[in-house]
Amino acid sequence: MPISAATKTEFYADLAAQLRGLLGDETDPVANAANTAALIFMSLPDLNWAGFYFLRGGELVVGPFQGKPACVRIALGRGVCGTAAAERRTIVVADVHAFPGHIACDAASRSEIVVPLIRENVLIGVLDLDSPLPGRFDDDDRAGIERLAAIYCRQPAG
Ligand code: SME
Repeated sequence: MPISAATKTEFYADLAAQLRGLLGDETDPVANAANTAALIFMSLPDLNWAGFYFLRGGELVVGPFQGKPACVRIALGRGVCGTAAAERRTIVVADVHAFPGHIACDAASRSEIVVPLIRENVLIGVLDLDSPLPGRFDDDDRAGIERLAAIYCRQPAG
């Protein structure tokens, strides 16, 4: 069921609290990424993929995720993930077919948001969410998902 704009802020505040509780004092990056991806995938409506790519030796390598198997390696600057990583900014794509260089891991994906993961000014990877609906992610989603990414990174903004 879609979340109404009026309740989105509350929804993401609640999800952020759940994520903080779920991660607790755990420091293992893979365990925390796995639980973050699972919580997001089960909580947000209309997703077909949610997960992580981590920066490894100058390229992005897929990490824990929920959804169909995905492309393993993405060069910086390629696709939505590589562009968000290279430019260190969140990219919201309302229509993936209109994004030059979009990498179609799951043909069902119609819109996408990719948030760079930055810890102490160092890029560690990206959080990527895909939806089968066009225009799935608005500004409230962007703010909410950036907050979740910050919690994963353990930044003060989280
Ligand atoms: N669509 C992404 C690739 C990753 S998958 O969506 C899981 C991109 O263009 O970077």
